[in-house]
Formats: sequence, C-alpha cells, structure tokens
Amino acid sequence: MSNRFTEIKQIFAEESVFDYVNLDKSTLTYEKLVQCIQKPLKLILFYGKPGTGKTFLLRKIYHDLEKKQPLIFFPQPFFDEIQFLASLYEEIFNEKAPQINGYEHFLRLYKERTNTHEKVAISVLLDEAQLYPNELIEKIRLMADTRLFKFLFTIHKTEKEDVLAKEYFTTRIWESIELPNSSVAELQIYLEKKFLFHNRFEILTLFKPSQIRYLFELTKGNLRTVNKLLYKFFEIYEYYEANKPSLVGGKYANTKYIQMAAIDAGLIHA
Ligand SMILES: Nc1ncnc2c1ncn2[C@@H]1O[C@H](COP(=O)(O)OP(=O)(O)O)[C@@H](O)[C@H]1O
Ligand SMILES: [Mg+2]
Repeated sequence: MSNRFTEIKQIFAEESVFDYVNLDKSTLTYEKLVQCIQKPLKLILFYGKPGTGKTFLLRKIYHDLEKKQPLIFFPQPFFDEIQFLASLYEEIFNEKAPQINGYEHFLRLYKERTNTHEKVAISVLLDEAQLYPNELIEKIRLMADTRLFKFLFTIHKTEKEDVLAKEYFTTRIWESIELPNSSVAELQIYLEKKFLFHNRFEILTLFKPSQIRYLFELTKGNLRTVNKLLYKFFEIYEYYEANKPSLVGGKYANTKYIQMAAIDAGLIHA
C-alpha cells in the first residue's frame, strides 16, 4: 500500500536543514544567536521547551556560518571531560587526539599548535547541555575564560526549577536566549511552507482556519508534536485512500481524522 499520502506523511518525518521554515520566532532567535556568536561573549545560554526547534536552529546556524567563522557543533551530549576534550581536538585539527589528561593540558596543546594571538575565538555549539555533569560545565566555563573558546549551551527548559535555576547558569552566563513555542499564525505558516517545499500545492488549503486552531490547541504550538500528529493524520488518509478513497476526497480535512490522529498520538483520550 503506497499512494500520494505516503509521500505527504513523510513530509512530517523530515529532518533536513533544507526544510527550515522562517517562522517569526526562528528568525528573531536566529538573529539573536548569530549576534551573540559574533560578540565577544564567552558563554551563551539557549533554552526552550523540548520540541520548540532548538536543535533545528543550531543546525541551520552551523550550516550558514561554518564557512565564515570557526564553528563547531556537538549535537550529542558529553558526560566526561576527557571524551569532550578529545572530540574537541578532533574537530579542530581533523585528526585523532593524543592522550589528553585534562582541560589545562588541552589548552597547552591547542596553544602549541595554533597562533592564538591572531585567532578569533572558536565558537562551540553544545546541544542537550542539560545532560552535562556539573564538573564538566565548570571546566568548560574555565576554558571560556581564556577567550580562545566561546560556548553556547542549549538546554531543555521544562520547569522553572530545573537546570536554569542551577547557580552557574544564573550567575555566570552572559547572555541568555529563549525559543518559545509557535503561535497559531506560525503554525499556519509552518504547514504552508512544508507543503510548498514539497510541491504539494493541492493540500495547501486542506486545513480550515478553525482546524488550524484545533491543531494548535492539541499541540500547544510544539512543532515536534505537530509533526507527530500530522504524520498520524496522513497515515489515516493513506489508509483510506487505499481502502475507501471516497472518504478522503473532500476539499477540507475531516476533523474526525484529526481527532483520531490525536488519540493515536496520545494527545487526547478516547
Ligand atoms: N524553523 C523550523 N523550520 C522547520 N521545521 C522546524 C523548525 N523548528 C522546528 N522544526 C521541526 O520541529 C521538530 C522539533 O525541533 P527540534 O529542533 O528537534 O526541537 P528541540 O531541539 O527544541 O527539542 C524538528 O524535527 C523539525 O521538524
Ligand atoms: Mg533538541
């Protein structure tokens, strides 16, 4: 069973930077982040709820700036100093790291191999930084003090009391930037752009404004949840197209199928 809805549902499983949509919040946050990366700041804190688009934005920034300035992106978290330093070394010099026994040793090696007087600081984008142990964050902070490196910590903010409240983030971070959930208008744009990018003009207006609002209520504007919901939704369409095409022929989406998808995605309970 494979039909046009098979490809359409796949749109919501996409992870490429080419699928980047210029939402108001992403554009604003993108500008702020890029400015921060270019200012002589040592530490930047970038936070937002899971699914708001932080990793996506980091990838986009990395993709856009990588050729213009020294930039490193670590999507995966680190749990110990030695591992972190070895990976940093490998990213910088493009070769396997020697035995490194701590951040001071690393800094010595780095200075030996580069002319640090002429160098612009290397910016390092750290994703999933809420998982980094405190000792490692402390070492990273000390490395930032040398001004040879600038670090951007990306953190999931779930509750007010969590990581953000940790002392070093409140007292030592120089600048912090939040990525909020999307608004209804942004959700509308998100869907339109997604369909446009994939040349799906026929379903650009599949959702009525009231249905967009319903999608927004269900997902609270969280794009990861939106993807999950619409994947399920088009899976239902895919099924009916194959088995009962008369049920998916209308001009507008059927709200009943949105509800079924929402139940399936665990967003509402039957
Ligand atoms: N600006 C954007 N353009 C297109 N898709 C986006 C954008 N921001 C987020 N997304 C979508 O939302 C999903 C979740 O975003 P992600 O960056 O993984 O969130 P976070 O890292 O904050 O948990 C992504 O997989 C992507 O499909
Ligand atoms: Mg992420």
